[in-house]
Amino acid sequence: MIDVETIRREEFPITRRGIYLDNATLGPPPARHVRAVTALLQRMSAEGLDDLFAISDEGVDVVRAKAAALLHADPSHVFFVRSTSHGVAVVAERLTWREGDEVVLYELDHPAGVFPWLNLADRGVKVIFIKDRGRFGFDADDVREMLSPRTRAVCVSLVNFAHGTRADVQEIAEMCRTRGIWFVVDAVQALGALTVDASRLGADVVVAHGYKFLLSGFGLGIACCSDRALAELKVCRIGWNSVENPFNVDRILAFDMRFPPSAKRFEPSFQPLPQVFGLGATLDLFHEVGTGAIEKHVLSLAGADHLDRGAQRRRAGANPARLAGKQDDVRGARVARAPVAALLQHRGRDRSPAELSLMAEIEEELGRRLEELGLRTSPEELRELASAYPALVAWMRMTEELAREEEEELPE
Ligand SMILES: Cc1ncc(COP(=O)(O)O)c(C=O)c1O
Repeated sequence: MIDVETIRREEFPITRRGIYLDNATLGPPPARHVRAVTALLQRMSAEGLDDLFAISDEGVDVVRAKAAALLHADPSHVFFVRSTSHGVAVVAERLTWREGDEVVLYELDHPAGVFPWLNLADRGVKVIFIKDRGRFGFDADDVREMLSPRTRAVCVSLVNFAHGTRADVQEIAEMCRTRGIWFVVDAVQALGALTVDASRLGADVVVAHGYKFLLSGFGLGIACCSDRALAELKVCRIGWNSVENPFNVDRILAFDMRFPPSAKRFEPSFQPLPQVFGLGATLDLFHEVGTGAIEKHVLSLAGADHLDRGAQRRRAGANPARLAGKQDDVRGARVARAPVAALLQHRGRDRSPAELSLMAEIEEELGRRLEELGLRTSPEELRELASAYPALVAWMRMTEELAREEEEELPE
């Protein structure tokens, strides 16, 4: 059992201000992370770092080992990256492409996992999108259908950024492995919250930036690569640190460009050391609590079992709404996704004059009601609240439609 109250009190000062809803964008670093970052910065400022080489090498390796444990991977396969897209680019930019090669992606994936591949258009690489078709998810069969003899890579998020559905990466990995297709997994919406067993998964790269569920801020992430990636991917972003024994100053002008057998070859320069040690502190917290226990707790809060069960049924090829006795689960899953769908539909849309005037009325009415309740709100806050209104209406409409649709499809 996790002692949530103690962890909250001791590690997450943000919760003193109110309830913090982790919205899949930013995870607050725990107090021990801040202490570790600050301690190194203070030392750099007040004393300098006379052990710079040692902490950059062995010191970073200690954190690498903690990251490897989180990923269930061997430390020799783990490397630090600047971002998720940086990890994706390790495959996208380093494979040797041929005109007509294809990459399979999911059409509702985050741009971080899409742009590195679209950017290969000038090398003749074609991106093939798996269609969502209103399901808020896809399964391994969807990937299978998109594969062709020209498919060189598949890249998907383990957990989708928009609707939160978990992809069946294990089955997709197996499919890619048997066909020799490169497989890249963006795990940024999972790592830290859900168990990620990279060695069992066997993807070519699994990567996650630090600032979401890794609770470790911007500009540093962790990645893990396959044996094949080490053997076959060219080192592109090369730097003095990419080679074997980069700290051997006696040999520095020998320009000996031999790469180490490990994934350190993908790290061209110093790491952002304060953040690396901050990440190390966060990882200590994860390991103390236990990643299995964290996952269990997160799933209990998210009701994610609904979402996963919906996906399992899609995989079984069943029409979920027709499964007698299971309608509540299915309705739960579809209704849970409706607000996201509604927001996606409304994001960035131009508003009609009628809608704008309705929103102005809503703003006024909301302001009056909140004032009656003794709540003071700024005009900006009111505007923001009112702007959610069209999405809320769409959500309610969508929920009603789903309920109606499911009632119509119920077996007698
Ligand atoms: C699925 C997914 N991938 C990647 C990112 C961010 O990418 P990067 O780490 O390159 O900034 C996000 C951010 O929301 C995301 O949700």
